[in-house]
Amino acid sequence: MQLDHLTPAQLRDSHGYSSKWHFYPEDVLPMWVADMDFPICPAISQAIAERLQERVGYPQMRGDEQLLHRIIEQQSKHGLTHLAPENLLLTTSVVPAIYASVLALSSPGDEVITQVPVYHPFLNVLAEHHRIAKHNPLRRTPDGWEIDFEQLERLITPRTRLLMLCNPQNPTGRVFRRDELEKLADFALRHRLWVMSDELWAELIYEGTHIPIASLGSEIAQRTVTLTGPCKTYNTAGLGGGVAISHNKQILAAMAAVSKGLGGHPNVLSMTAWRAALEHGQDWLQEVRAYLKGNRDFITSFMRQHLPQVGYLPPEGTYLAWLDFSATPFGKKAHQVMLEQAKVGLNDGKIFGPQFEGWLRLNFATSRNLLQEALERITRVTQAID
Ligand SMILES: Cc1ncc(COP(=O)(O)O)c(C=O)c1O
Repeated sequence: MQLDHLTPAQLRDSHGYSSKWHFYPEDVLPMWVADMDFPICPAISQAIAERLQERVGYPQMRGDEQLLHRIIEQQSKHGLTHLAPENLLLTTSVVPAIYASVLALSSPGDEVITQVPVYHPFLNVLAEHHRIAKHNPLRRTPDGWEIDFEQLERLITPRTRLLMLCNPQNPTGRVFRRDELEKLADFALRHRLWVMSDELWAELIYEGTHIPIASLGSEIAQRTVTLTGPCKTYNTAGLGGGVAISHNKQILAAMAAVSKGLGGHPNVLSMTAWRAALEHGQDWLQEVRAYLKGNRDFITSFMRQHLPQVGYLPPEGTYLAWLDFSATPFGKKAHQVMLEQAKVGLNDGKIFGPQFEGWLRLNFATSRNLLQEALERITRVTQAID
């Protein structure tokens, strides 16, 4: 499979389909939205081609039973066990499940806690649906990003209903340890909170182990809905597909009720793709994960050598690097400067929390040559002004 030496000309498809590659002008290297630049797993393309020879009519409403069993098997490898197909609710993708869980597990005016910076739909859903967001900023320590448990306790009021967790964490790349998750579970249980745990990045980990928070005991399992899907792991974002998993079937029933008529039905091609990926995509995934780890390590040594003034902690998982330009002369204009002068398209940190202006998120799921080119462009502009 070709992972190395991809070129912008190859990646800019002739139909203009790719948001990543067609959003910015052609002289900009796009390192933003979380798509991989790598070719799709051949087992997925083949399964989709075969499926198209057959029926693509309405699927069974519960979804493909074989897929449900594969997802259950996959979760059990992470320690989330005792699941039956009734504990799974297929969704059109993960973001609709984030929205449904907030609507199902809280009411307007309720307070919802989440660690920031965080994947922006976590914050958007709260603002759009009149929940009150209580931010628990991750603390930057010499050892990495840590949850501020003291501040967490101070956020609690009688209106707090829900904890939204992102693990592995977008954008910091933290993979939370067992002791951290146990403390979070204890916190949620003591304050009778519901927990929405978005674990979409669970298969893209370089250090540590993914532990579903719902696997820590039956009490926390009863208060948690775990969300996942195929798109980050297998690079199938445009196909969609997601699942809400809970030992508490009432949570899933409440999510189904709030999405009724809006959630659509499981998409046959996304189910086909996801099942093929779980059944036959493991070698592809291993190769891609090893390449991504190489990219992560490349960034780490590049930053130390050429951009020490930019804050960076190596991510333990995801293919996202979270870069702090706030101490550079660009300050809050970092996103604009990188776009206009360096010609590198990154995600502006402020979407992950209002206090993160001057931070940028870089997607490193690309060929090493393109990653290097982007980092060199960033360095040239940064050094010119220092
Ligand atoms: C944590 C997290 N959840 C959900 C999504 C999006 O999921 P989907 O495309 O399946 O809606 C992303 C995409 O980057 C993500 O990082």
